[in-house]
Amino acid sequence: MRDIRVIGDPVLRTPAEPVTEFDRDLRRLIDEMFAAMYAAEGVGLAGPQIGVSKRLFVYDCSNRKGHVINPELTVDDAAEVLDEEGCLSVPGRETGKPLYARTPRAAGVTVSGLDRLGRPVRVRARGLLARCFQHEADHLDGMLYVDRLAKDAARKVLLQAP
Ligand code: NI
Repeated sequence: MRDIRVIGDPVLRTPAEPVTEFDRDLRRLIDEMFAAMYAAEGVGLAGPQIGVSKRLFVYDCSNRKGHVINPELTVDDAAEVLDEEGCLSVPGRETGKPLYARTPRAAGVTVSGLDRLGRPVRVRARGLLARCFQHEADHLDGMLYVDRLAKDAARKVLLQAP
């Protein structure tokens, strides 16, 4: 089982590289990402979170489950929605569980990219799933949800993190 990297690890702050090989190693990586995500009871996981600086993520959120390789996000509804958001890579020092904060996100997005066999995928999302896609896409650019918070709110989270 792959360990989940936590804030402070430089891989989480490094823009990830596009996936170019659609081979058995990639399929194994996706399986490992799902295993790590489920073991940690997460709803999404991006490559850098297990130390693999590649542009892909897996998700199981709002009864939708899948993976997207080299994802591109387009905003369909830019209305800002504030809701609780956490990240497996930002756990509480004491609890080891994700720290949550109300985080602004666009109300609706479409993610497009490729699947494990290199076939195009496209998913339109609103609500929690749209939040999940934006959160995971941020990971691929070296961003964490705390970067989306106001200074005071971010400080409150970071004070409890490792
Ligand atoms: Ni995360």
